[in-house]
Amino acid sequence: MATLNPNFVPTRTEIREIQVALGERAYTVHVGAHLLRQVNISELCHGRQVLVVSNEDIAPMHLDRVLVQLSNKKVECCILQDGEEMKSFSGAERVFHRLAAMRAARDVTLVALGGGVIGDLTGFVASLWMRGVSFIQIPTTLLAMVDSSVGGKTAINLPSGKNLIGSFWQPNAVYADLALLKTLPRQQLAAGFAEVIKYGAIVDEGFFSWLEDNATDLMNGDLDLMSEAVARSVQHKADIVARDERETGDRMLLNFGHTFGHALEVASGYRGLLHGEAVAIGMACAAELSADLYGGTLRQDAERLENLLKLFELPTHATIKARAEDMTRVMRLDKKVIAETLRLILWRGVGKAEVSSAPDEAIEKVWRSRLPAATAVA
Ligand code: NAD
Ligand code: GLY
Repeated sequence: MATLNPNFVPTRTEIREIQVALGERAYTVHVGAHLLRQVNISELCHGRQVLVVSNEDIAPMHLDRVLVQLSNKKVECCILQDGEEMKSFSGAERVFHRLAAMRAARDVTLVALGGGVIGDLTGFVASLWMRGVSFIQIPTTLLAMVDSSVGGKTAINLPSGKNLIGSFWQPNAVYADLALLKTLPRQQLAAGFAEVIKYGAIVDEGFFSWLEDNATDLMNGDLDLMSEAVARSVQHKADIVARDERETGDRMLLNFGHTFGHALEVASGYRGLLHGEAVAIGMACAAELSADLYGGTLRQDAERLENLLKLFELPTHATIKARAEDMTRVMRLDKKVIAETLRLILWRGVGKAEVSSAPDEAIEKVWRSRLPAATAVA
């Protein structure tokens, strides 16, 4: 994988603070470059014990910056292997055993240093250890900064489906240090932009246009633009989560493209396709389905979305060998099925998404146009 443009030299930018207004569980998402040099994480760790959870790739690059912050604590580290496979019972078990070995008490704080995999897993364990302990998110991927670290969804996967086992467990704080993105491979950066684009697509046409205008500079890591993109995305997520923490209403809109995307991830065995890439293809599918169902100017909007995804070097078609009916069946295993009705997030145009449903035949037609020709034939 190519690394980021060498021109990406993070400087100190203004720190932005976004509140996730959840009453007694409210917290702040801090966004800025070299944030970890400027904030005090340890004051949010109320007890003496801290367990930092990270992985073998990230820890050598970024763990030191976190440990410096925690020098007044009794800190242990649990460094897992890299990969989605760690978001599993066995991954969780390793963290639980580590907590047991350090005799972690109820006032232990877990610190997740990593992407969505480490964040989701650490939150999951934090929600269960001693019936729930505090945790802090230090996201290291763009995707984790703008999405998974905020909002308290924690989970592990089963072979039959992603994120099937989990909890809502909010962190004490999120520290999104943009300087950590310097080491992120370009393909991972692009995958994070899929979730950024999602916010423009579902609720903010102005942001969508801004992304169209600034795609090249964003992909080259312009820090001021990056700070704006992350902060605006987090603000949208915080607003939605504050209105609907448990996903009974508006929060469902955040799943735009995800039901199609999850089916792709399951069909590919969680290999060879990044989550953000699956979401990108999924959003293109959802936009095409909306255009098929509602017509009007939606065809042009779907093209606009597809073009924006391409500007961020994201895929809009699947390469996986699968049949349209099988993909539709996998979608039905998704958590968004209620009373046998699959709820999909459909589109009424840029910035306008809604919870809806669609006939299986319409979904299969979209899959046929998005899967490789030889396998798409029903
Ligand atoms: P990831 O956590 O697997 O990280 C991607 C890759 O980048 C990994 O190989 C990781 O080791 C590496 N990496 C991370 N930070 C790096 C850095 N700074 N420099 C170099 N390499 C780095 O993947 P992700 O895209 O961050 O997250 C995907 C996961 O998040 C999925 O499991 C998905 O289901 C979950 N997710 C959860 C939510 C939620 O609301 N909880 C939302 C979206 C996605
Ligand atoms: N990533 C979707 C959500 O947090 O609800």
